[in-house]
Amino acid sequence: MEDHHLLQPIVSTITTTTTAIDDDDIAVSTSAIIYRMVMVIFIAIVSIWANYEASKGFEIIIINDAGNTPAGHRFAVFFISDGKAIRIVQNTSEFAEKVLYPNASQPKKQVHHVTLRLAGRNLTDVVVVNMSKSHEFVLHISPSMMEEINLEKAMVSAVQRGMARVWLWDGEISTAPRSIIDGMVEYVGISAGFGGSPDSGGLKLPEFDGNSCWDDRDSVNVARFLNYCERVRPGFIGRLNQAMRDGWDVRTVDDALGLPAQQLCYYYYSSIVRISNVMGPTSTSGRIQSI
Ligand SMILES: *[C@@H]1O[C@H](CO)[C@@H](O)[C@H](O)[C@H]1NC(C)=O
Ligand SMILES: *[C@@H]1O[C@H](CO)[C@@H](O)[C@H](O)[C@H]1NC(C)=O
Ligand SMILES: *[C@@H]1O[C@H](CO)[C@@H](O)[C@H](O)[C@H]1NC(C)=O
Ligand SMILES: *[C@@H]1O[C@H](CO)[C@@H](O)[C@H](O)[C@H]1NC(C)=O
Repeated sequence: MEDHHLLQPIVSTITTTTTAIDDDDIAVSTSAIIYRMVMVIFIAIVSIWANYEASKGFEIIIINDAGNTPAGHRFAVFFISDGKAIRIVQNTSEFAEKVLYPNASQPKKQVHHVTLRLAGRNLTDVVVVNMSKSHEFVLHISPSMMEEINLEKAMVSAVQRGMARVWLWDGEISTAPRSIIDGMVEYVGISAGFGGSPDSGGLKLPEFDGNSCWDDRDSVNVARFLNYCERVRPGFIGRLNQAMRDGWDVRTVDDALGLPAQQLCYYYYSSIVRISNVMGPTSTSGRIQSI
């Protein structure tokens, strides 16, 4: 399949050139043939090299388990037939890697296989990542997503979040709080240009419980706080990701920040409350008001 595809343009080039040099003498034809053969070999080598480059890093497998359903057909037509699914996985992986490992000397998680699977049944989330085997990851995509109007954008956004989850250093057993993991994943998604749900309500006040800014159940709120930390202390996201590798304790965020996170949390919420007071808050809670 792949070879046939690659050879197609070469075959048509040869046909055209042959017609054009039909009247020339034998010597010219012979050198033209040699030239063409060299070109064919050259292109073949380049193709092999390109395939090798594409598969460098980890193996990608695409599975369509929604088969003969409208969702399965859409997936086949829009993402499998032209190899787009593979390119989306590669592209979003590269982006997540860049955000989570900004420093080349930081050790990287090992990723050997990534399977992108359109599930047969609707899932609770658009993308669910399964990491049951070491270095092998499965991104289960919910078939309900195939009904999105901007299908490609929805797919890239879902796979981007899935690949962020794959690259996140949370060890094989996740010890970091759920809200931090979701917040980091959301941070990568937002950084790639896929915001959370459109904020129709303007500025949204986080559910601050007075303890830590990463306890929020809304991953968009946590992602915004992480973004604030990254701006105050560049490299924070990379350091936090590395810290997750060794487990989690109450000082992990402080250490990655290099200052007490509680203090930054206080500044962050104070600034949000100030802005929302100026703009007219869409929702307020007594606890936040009292800061
Ligand atoms: C890869 O991602 C970049 C940035 O997110 C985007 O500009 C580009 O179009 C993407 N390419 C493909 C093939 O998806
Ligand atoms: C990159 O990481 C290494 C080792 O963890 C550290 O020594 C170095 O300071 C880091 N560089 C930057 C620019 O953060
Ligand atoms: C993840 O994999 C395990 C073992 O292969 C399986 O039992 C589990 O159901 C999978 N989870 C999902 C969401 O598919
Ligand atoms: C899956 O979700 C979509 C959209 O929410 C819905 O139209 C479809 O009927 C659901 N499929 C099943 C099998 O529940």
